Amino acid sequence: MASVAVYPGSFDPVTNGHVDIIERSSKVFNKVIVAVLHNRNKEPLFTVDERVQMLKESIEYIPNIEIDSFNGLLVDYVRHKQAKTIVRGLRAVTDFEYEMQAASINRKLDPELETFFMMTNNQYSYLSSSIVKEVAKYEADVGDLVPPPVPKYLYKKYGSSPSDR
Ligand code: PNS
Repeated sequence: MASVAVYPGSFDPVTNGHVDIIERSSKVFNKVIVAVLHNRNKEPLFTVDERVQMLKESIEYIPNIEIDSFNGLLVDYVRHKQAKTIVRGLRAVTDFEYEMQAASINRKLDPELETFFMMTNNQYSYLSSSIVKEVAKYEADVGDLVPPPVPKYLYKKYGSSPSDR
């Protein structure tokens, strides 16, 4: 049976840390569905369409990947996609508490689903979408933090770029 996993997240925007997890999980599972969450408590910078587009441009070279978006409960979406596994990246102990809580509630909601954690590569342990937005907002270079298609989306949103400094 083909193993299908879902890698959910806000991806606001996708970072090199996310790409690392996507590349590595694509070697573990037959197919990985990268799923962008529609509604969030905190206001995203990018629309869902923009986030999906950035992902498409960033990881189109990986063959066994699907990019999608979802609304509502993650477990319902995972079931709907006939997947059995949720993939999440762990950067540091600071991620652990939230992730343990999320994995526990997801297991309670659907005991058939497993959460598969991957430690992020050390070089990305400091990296988050929030940090990337902070850096881009102040017109600093984000070229080492995000995949090549992403900086132009950020600088367009903020109406600035490192060359303005
Ligand atoms: O990239 P993020 O913001 O850390 O991703 C969080 C995400 C999307 C995995 C989480 O918020 C989620 O699964 N939301 C969907 C609603 C849900 O199922 N909540 C219960 C589990 S936390």
